[in-house]
Amino acid sequence: MFMKNSPKSHAVIDFRRYPIPRVRHHVSPQLYMPLQQQLIRPAWYPPLIDAATWAEWFGNGAPATVIDLGCGRGGFLLAHALAFPQVNVLGIEVRNVLIEWIQGVIAGEAIPNAHALWYSAVNGLPWIDSGSIDYVTYLFADPWPKKRHHKRRLFSTELLDELDRILAPGGRIYFATDVPEVEEHQRSTIAAHGRFVVHDVSEQYPWPFDFATDQQSFCDRKEIPYSMYVATRR
Ligand SMILES: C[S@@+](CC[C@H](N)C(=O)[O-])C[C@H]1O[C@@H](n2cnc3c(N)ncnc32)[C@H](O)[C@@H]1O
Repeated sequence: MFMKNSPKSHAVIDFRRYPIPRVRHHVSPQLYMPLQQQLIRPAWYPPLIDAATWAEWFGNGAPATVIDLGCGRGGFLLAHALAFPQVNVLGIEVRNVLIEWIQGVIAGEAIPNAHALWYSAVNGLPWIDSGSIDYVTYLFADPWPKKRHHKRRLFSTELLDELDRILAPGGRIYFATDVPEVEEHQRSTIAAHGRFVVHDVSEQYPWPFDFATDQQSFCDRKEIPYSMYVATRR
């Protein structure tokens, strides 16, 4: 079900201190392919990861408990970390220019429980321990309605296998999208996978975030409807 939301932000960051870099919206399609499918590793392709270095990544030295997949410009990641100081939020993003900017804000504001990682999640998440993550946010990711762009979508049976593995018992995936075809794709992929059940946001399955993602704020400004739903493990 598509709905409008009017989130308020917890963030107390003065973003004027951090000029936002210009970001190209359309990047090479190779960025969305696994590294093993590429003949050579392009210089702009994110490195693979052998092992998580939590103590280096988080100011508090503890491992991630929450993953923000495709964190984009990081507005949600930063607000999330400030609003929930008890969780460690790891943002994953393929565009390094965004990662460098987010990391600049995290360092400038000394936020101990946020980290943004330059990585393409299409290569899997083998460096995250099984059962270690409380919830994953997958917000406005994969905005590829055109058929010829579907191969860029990260959301797949393989990704669900990985999320099923890393989530703790009772773990959830929070979804939002403003592209109806993407919602259909996500719901049908989850139904076919069989390990998760999708719920519309309700009293029983609440949306626990009263701060917005950057894309969500854009949709709110332009009055573009979007849907939010929650997947629980069976
Ligand atoms: C439309 S943006 C949404 C960003 C943010 N979640 C928001 O709601 O504002 C989707 C983001 O997912 C990132 N992304 C797409 N495929 C990815 C992948 N395989 N691994 C990591 N990030 C990816 C894109 O670069 C983009 O920044």
